[in-house]
Amino acid sequence: MSDFDSSQWADSEFSQEYRKYANDYLPDRFKLIEIVKSFFRHFIYEVDAPRVLDLGCGDGLLMQELMKSDNRIRATLVDGFSEMLESAKKRLADFRDVQFVQATFQDLLVDDPLHTSFDFILSSFAIHHLETQEKKALFEYIYHHLSADGFFLNLDVVLAPYQDLEEWYLSLWREWISASVDSARKPDLLPIPQQYKDNPDNFPDTLSSQLEALQAIGFKNVDCFYKYGIFTIFGGKR
Ligand SMILES: C[S@@+](CC[C@H](N)C(=O)[O-])C[C@H]1O[C@@H](n2cnc3c(N)ncnc32)[C@H](O)[C@@H]1O
Repeated sequence: MSDFDSSQWADSEFSQEYRKYANDYLPDRFKLIEIVKSFFRHFIYEVDAPRVLDLGCGDGLLMQELMKSDNRIRATLVDGFSEMLESAKKRLADFRDVQFVQATFQDLLVDDPLHTSFDFILSSFAIHHLETQEKKALFEYIYHHLSADGFFLNLDVVLAPYQDLEEWYLSLWREWISASVDSARKPDLLPIPQQYKDNPDNFPDTLSSQLEALQAIGFKNVDCFYKYGIFTIFGGKR
């Protein structure tokens, strides 16, 4: 079983570095956010005062962008690390209907602090820190916290189904970084794809196995909505 407290995400310096540099090395981060906003407009907009949950919210960027586009949202943000939640609180200070919950995914599964259902559940670049069985348990938790016809979207990295594909996907990621940052920053940022691969806190599963897991739980309209190498958006509907 994975252990949040012994992971790098419970380390202040590691968490600060992520907040500082993620825009520079996560390919097309804002395009992914635009896709989420479009999905929300298309599928959730008709709901009155929609309840939205972000699992592993980090500094709250995704929720901030979504709330800027719809101020009726009632937001709940969950993260295992207090400093991440503090950053999210600062970022979302201007929005009124926002709740912050410090809990690990493992905590949610054992002693659930969220006693409500949500119209839209999101997670970005967080669930791959769980092992396969824990992911399935969290997907099940998510299913049971969705309102009727509510949607789940997971923006996350996945494992390629073949080793040679995985190698190319990591090259593709390096090529993206190389084309996006100036020369002075390349020595710091180009090693990140390999560091991601070597990091023992990352447990990515293949996209197909996760889509199958969602279907087996009962999610409908399961699909992958975006893919660029290992970077995906996938999910489904209750
Ligand atoms: C890569 S960051 C992503 C943050 C944010 N969602 C984003 O897209 O920028 C991963 C986040 O998941 C949180 N996290 C990792 N493992 C977790 C766990 N087991 N339970 C709760 N939060 C976790 C970390 O604290 C961190 O904020």
